[in-house]
Amino acid sequence: MNTVIGSDIHLAASFLREGKLIGMPTETVYGLAGNALLESAVLNIFKTKERPEFDPLIVHVKSIDEVSKYATSVPEEIYKLIERFWPGPLTILLPKNELIPDIVTSGLDSVALRMPAHPMALQLLQQLDFPLAAPSANPFGYISPTTARHVFDQLQGKLPYILDGGQCSVGVESTIFGMEEGRAIIYRVGGLPVDAIESVIGKVEIQSNISSNPRAPGMLKSHYAPTKPMYFDEPEVIRKLKLSGKGALICFNRMETDIPYTQFPLSSNGNLEEAARNLFATLRLLDKSDFDFICAIPFPETGLGKAINDRLRRAGG
Ligand code: TXA
Ligand code: MG
Repeated sequence: MNTVIGSDIHLAASFLREGKLIGMPTETVYGLAGNALLESAVLNIFKTKERPEFDPLIVHVKSIDEVSKYATSVPEEIYKLIERFWPGPLTILLPKNELIPDIVTSGLDSVALRMPAHPMALQLLQQLDFPLAAPSANPFGYISPTTARHVFDQLQGKLPYILDGGQCSVGVESTIFGMEEGRAIIYRVGGLPVDAIESVIGKVEIQSNISSNPRAPGMLKSHYAPTKPMYFDEPEVIRKLKLSGKGALICFNRMETDIPYTQFPLSSNGNLEEAARNLFATLRLLDKSDFDFICAIPFPETGLGKAINDRLRRAGG
C-alpha cells in the first residue's frame, strides 16, 4: 500500500468511511485512527500496531454531547472536568453501552473517551458520523510519534493516508482519569497536569506507576522505549554507571555537570511545556544517532514534569 502524507481532511474522512485507517494529528501525539464502531477497523488497528488485544483503545469524540451517546452514566466530577478541559489532553473512563464494540475496550465495561484539541482532528471528527478509536501511531512499546514524518517512518505501507497537522503542541499523551467507588483516580499522568485536575475537583489519587494495574493494562513498566540501552536515574547514579562508548544525556536545561556525555537539554530556558513538546522527538533522534546509549536525569516533579519523568522512567524500562 502506498502511504501519502497530506493535509486533505475530506480525503482522510473518506478513507475512514471506507473502514480504512489513517494517521491523525492530535495536540498530544499522533494517533492511528479508525471507525470505533466498526469491528474490522478496530481489529486492523491492533494488527497494524502489533498491539496485544488486552490493551484497550481510546475513543475520540467531537463534542461533550457525544459522551452520553456511548456512556451509561457520568459522575458529577467527570462532567466538571470535561466542561473545563475539553477539548484537551484529558481522557475519561466511563461505563460503556452496547454501541462500543467489546474489542475496543478489550472486554472491559468502561470506555476511554477523549475530545482532542487539535483543529484538524476536530474538523475531521465533525465530518464523520462515528467516533474514532486511536492509539498512538507507533509500533507497540516504542516511542510515540509527534510529527507526521514519525508516523510515516514506522507505519508506511500499512495505511493509505497520514493527515499532517504539524508538530504536536503538547507532546506527551493525554492524562487518563476515572472514578472508582467515589474515588478520583489518575491512571496515566499526561498532558493535563495533576494540579489542573485538583483545582476543579480536589485531591486525586495517582495509580499510574503500578505496572500491573488491571484498569489500564497498557500502562506497562517498559514502554515508550528506544531500541538503544536507556538509563533514567539521579545524576549521582548516572555518573557512577560504568558504561563504555558514546553517551547522550537528556536533561531539562543546560547544566554544569561532570557527567561525561553529550547534553541534550529539552528546554534551554527551563520551560516544562517546551520540554514535553521536545521529549519524544529527541528520544527518536538519539535512537537513530550513533550514540551507544541514552541517559536521562529527573525533571522537576511539577506540572508536565510528572508526565516527562513517567515517560523517561518507562523508556528506561
Ligand atoms: O493522547 C493520547 O491519549 C493519544 C492520542 C492519540 O489521543 N492516545 C494514546 O493511546 O495515547 P494509547 O492507546 O497509546 O494509550 C491509551 C491508554 C492505554 O494505556 C490503555 O490501556 C488505556 O489508555 N485505556 C484505554 N481504554 C481503557 C479502558 N477502558 N480502561 C482502562 N484503560 C484504558
Ligand atoms: Mg501509546
